[in-house]
Amino acid sequence: MFLELRDITKLYDKDNGIRNISFSVEQGEFVTLLGPSGCGKTTTLNIIGGFLKPDSGKVILDGQDITGFVPEERPVSTVFQSYALFPHMNVLDNVSYGLRHLCRMSKKSAAEEALKYLEIVGLSGYEHSQVGNLSGGQQQRVALARSMATKPKLLLMDEPLSNLDASLRIKMRLELKNLQRKLGITMILVTHDQEEALSMSDKIIVMEKGDILQIGSPQDIYFSPQSREVSSFIGRANFVDINGKTELIRPENIRIIPDEKGNYRITDKIFMGARTEYIVSDGKNTLEVEISGVYGTAFEKDQSVSIEI
Ligand SMILES: Nc1ncnc2c1ncn2[C@@H]1O[C@H](COP(=O)(O)OP(=O)(O)OP(=O)(O)O)[C@@H](O)[C@H]1O
Ligand SMILES: [Mg+2]
Repeated sequence: MFLELRDITKLYDKDNGIRNISFSVEQGEFVTLLGPSGCGKTTTLNIIGGFLKPDSGKVILDGQDITGFVPEERPVSTVFQSYALFPHMNVLDNVSYGLRHLCRMSKKSAAEEALKYLEIVGLSGYEHSQVGNLSGGQQQRVALARSMATKPKLLLMDEPLSNLDASLRIKMRLELKNLQRKLGITMILVTHDQEEALSMSDKIIVMEKGDILQIGSPQDIYFSPQSREVSSFIGRANFVDINGKTELIRPENIRIIPDEKGNYRITDKIFMGARTEYIVSDGKNTLEVEISGVYGTAFEKDQSVSIEI
């Protein structure tokens, strides 16, 4: 076990903070803290980074109790939700900083290394720009390059892709994952984006209101959620009464069949590009259905249909 949080509690007041958080992270693992705004993700991450002191509990890294260590004493690098770049330095100096001062590289080799990481995040050509003149998404990528460049043992990332446009976000997801595998860095990602969590993680920790709801692989969490809260937060969910038992049925597992005498009626149709979402109702049950591809666009609002699960 590489990192372990043992029974960490940090309360700002009686309702806000995190309570009895325990989990472990293996060397080289990609772990995601997933949960809605205010559930305690940043608080948890800042305790691992050493920026916050827990009220109780321990943080163990590589067999050592580091709970009392200041951030500089931890082999940990953080991409903050607010980027925290050096505003008076240009892009290259921001990324070179850690390489020069932590990794003790010469100015020239630090700059060469920094350029490699700027290329990875798609910012070649911006090395002499002042960070204050960059867009939010560009600043976010400088922050990512800066923390990856020092190849820390543990990289903490707080919503590192939140300000990127959709296509860049998907590209950076792949880049991050590849880099993590290649360098063997242990990463903890904080996000409220379920697709990001499902596509990148070895392990997902689902949080709500300062507690952990479930820990598992992306497949576990998606196919075997342990509670209604988890299933509603990850993917979309229908809860259907089958023989007196409430079962979870995912929208992609329902088929719509054109049927003039069918019990169900399409009450809404939402075209999403790669897929089309329908809301169908028999007056008692209202279900979300998702069909991919062009075939999925074939049904119309108010049409009578039957369904197959
Ligand atoms: N310094 C603080 N003082 C008082 N309350 C705080 C402080 N920092 C966070 N909180 C509260 O603690 C709870 C958890 O905050 P945290 O920042 O960890 O949430 P989060 O999951 O990172 O949310 P988001 O997705 O919005 O960034 C929230 O209700 C927040 O309002
Ligand atoms: Mg946060």
